[in-house]
Amino acid sequence: MSTDYADLATQALTDIADAGDVDALDALRPVLFGKKSALTEAKKHLGALEADERKAAGQALNEARGQVETAFELRRDELASIARTAALEAERLDLTEYLGRHSPGHLHLVTQARDRLEDVFVGMGYTIAEGPEVETAWYNFEALNIPEWHPARGSFDTIFVNLGEPEEVMLRSHTSPVQIRTMENQEPPIYIVAPGRTFRTDTADATHLPAFNQIEGLVVDRGITLGDLAGTIETFVHAFFGQEVETRLRPSYFPFTEPSAEFDISLPDGSWLELGGCGVVHPNVLRNCGIDPEVWQGFAFGFGIDRLAVMRYQLDDIRELVNNDVRFLRQF
Ligand code: FA5
Repeated sequence: MSTDYADLATQALTDIADAGDVDALDALRPVLFGKKSALTEAKKHLGALEADERKAAGQALNEARGQVETAFELRRDELASIARTAALEAERLDLTEYLGRHSPGHLHLVTQARDRLEDVFVGMGYTIAEGPEVETAWYNFEALNIPEWHPARGSFDTIFVNLGEPEEVMLRSHTSPVQIRTMENQEPPIYIVAPGRTFRTDTADATHLPAFNQIEGLVVDRGITLGDLAGTIETFVHAFFGQEVETRLRPSYFPFTEPSAEFDISLPDGSWLELGGCGVVHPNVLRNCGIDPEVWQGFAFGFGIDRLAVMRYQLDDIRELVNNDVRFLRQF
């Protein structure tokens, strides 16, 4: 390689090494290899040389050009690789980044009320029982001492299901069928509560829902009286609402309890609010479940969990519980 070409190559190699990124290097390409580049110009001048000189000069020039081209491509690969690494570094997901606390939300008001009710009764020695939401007439009515002709069947406003004989299968209209299922499967003494969904043809209004929740209580033991029922309701109400809330029983009628009562709780303004029904288990109901009423006595109660939530959270309208408006639900 002649000295001139060597100098040309050295200058080109310095420029290539100095290029800081791919764009700067690409900008050098026409300068190094273009029509007006020093290397191309040198080639043009070869023609002016003597034949033997030309051959040697041509070889030297090709060598210089090859050296510059190789250096150019190597530097280009190197700069592209540096750029790629920098881009990846910039785009990397930073898993340690702190974006503030994620709110996990909370349980629905009815679920909260149901959980608290269960806790209170479990604390009083009860266990939790369950039954199906679709029931037969035996469990929803007959075993509960409500025969087909009985006017109380009408008062339950039942939603029947199109299965089996007409009016044989239904969405349960109360949780009382769980009394029967428990007594059929369990020997006394029995102390259970059974919360769950119930259904009636009621039109939704400020105090009614067509699908609502009840909690049933059933005790079967020796020597149980109405006094045990009154004491149990008072203990539960104090545990759930506070010591200042009073309870009272008002005579009522249910075919499956005798005597029967509605139980009310006192409100701060001195008025009373009905929570549910209760009574001493009717001997026919015990007999229907194979339990001897001469040996065993019992009491039962059932009340609406949704109405209890309305009362506890001072809501104006029971329908708020099912509107699922998060602005409302977030307040509790
Ligand atoms: C009964 O359902 C009886 N099974 C309760 C019972 C159990 C009595 C054991 C004796 C022994 P009642 O139909 O009154 O009774 O309903 C009980 C409670 O359910 C009501 O006091 C009320 O709190 C709630 N409830 C009834 N209908 C609705 C409704 N459409 N929407 C919301 N809550 C309701």
